[in-house]
Amino acid sequence: MTTAIPELKITPAAHRLSDAERAQRMGSLAFGRTFTEHMVVIPYKDGAWQTGEVKPYGPLSLDPSASSLHYGQSIFEGFKAFSQPDGSVKTFRSEQNAERFNRSAARMAMPAIPPELFLKAADALINLDKGWVPKNVGESLYLRPLMIATDPFLGVRPATEYLFVLFASPAGAYFPSGVKPVNVWISEDFVRAAPGGTGEAKCAGNYAASLVAQAQALEKGCDQVVWLDAVHREFVEEMGGMNLFFVYKEGDKTTVVTPELTGTLLPGITRLSLLQLARDLGFAAEERKLSVQQWRDDIAAGRMTEVFACGTAAVITPVGKAKANGFEMTINNGENGPVTMALREALLAIQHGTAADKHGWMRTI
Ligand code: PLP
Ligand code: COI
Repeated sequence: MTTAIPELKITPAAHRLSDAERAQRMGSLAFGRTFTEHMVVIPYKDGAWQTGEVKPYGPLSLDPSASSLHYGQSIFEGFKAFSQPDGSVKTFRSEQNAERFNRSAARMAMPAIPPELFLKAADALINLDKGWVPKNVGESLYLRPLMIATDPFLGVRPATEYLFVLFASPAGAYFPSGVKPVNVWISEDFVRAAPGGTGEAKCAGNYAASLVAQAQALEKGCDQVVWLDAVHREFVEEMGGMNLFFVYKEGDKTTVVTPELTGTLLPGITRLSLLQLARDLGFAAEERKLSVQQWRDDIAAGRMTEVFACGTAAVITPVGKAKANGFEMTINNGENGPVTMALREALLAIQHGTAADKHGWMRTI
């Protein structure tokens, strides 16, 4: 039996911005600071998604006893829409985000949203706020879907009422430094996720728990934290909001390596795409465990030539230095590496429609 997808009622903002006002607001695209004029809200109650609304962007009204505020049933996603050479707009692998959203929902005992509804909400929002999709390479409209429990109830149990919200933000580079290598702090004092925990879910609590480690990384002169596995405190997992890749050169052979999915790291969609793109570019690509000691040895021996971080927000960002208590290593003289930049260029070309989308990753709005 197929259930009908709920309707979305469209209530445009009363005073839509003029092109000039919008252009002024889009003048500086620091990540996550500017929001478009509309958002989508879809309530869930009585076991079903209800009629939703695309309406002016603004505050939500929540009961103080709403259970997400207390017990953290709160998940989110991030994906991007890109302006195409023919003036159309396409999203990158948003079906994958819809699927991952539902895997996060299942882990947090929250209801699934039909992927068709998730995508319909994105289409409606992007269509209404099309003027907010930046045109320059490396810029995009970042879409942020989230779901929170809204039950006004203090007992600890899965809520029965939820709100799906989707809003958008025109985005430039995630790191203020642009595409310059970042320094990373390998965290030995904190862990992000343990086996059986919520590491592979995109739930709010994972990010809250990461913040003291991120603050420590900043104190140590680094931009981001690198997480190690919780059991051995030895194997590299991922970064605060990005996955990691390591580039090896042996003679003519280039291999990119990324930590295998262990259940405790986020299965990044950029990561998945780069494993494919690396092979398309003639590199070997492997998913396997990598210890910090191995990382140090491979850098020292010159076998490992580049390291980079990847994610929707960060795209591909080179890593120039990795530090931990008692050691520090410089990677590729702290400069952008050729394999990193080739992958970055190949990914952006597909996203901006200047290279063929042979894997069918782009979805037309
Ligand atoms: N790891 C974490 C913890 C993240 O928050 C993200 C960002 O979404 C990623 C990895 C990269 O995932 P994706 O490429 O799907 O954006
Ligand atoms: C993303 O890349 O979409 C993320 O969610 C990372 C971060 C901004 C939390």
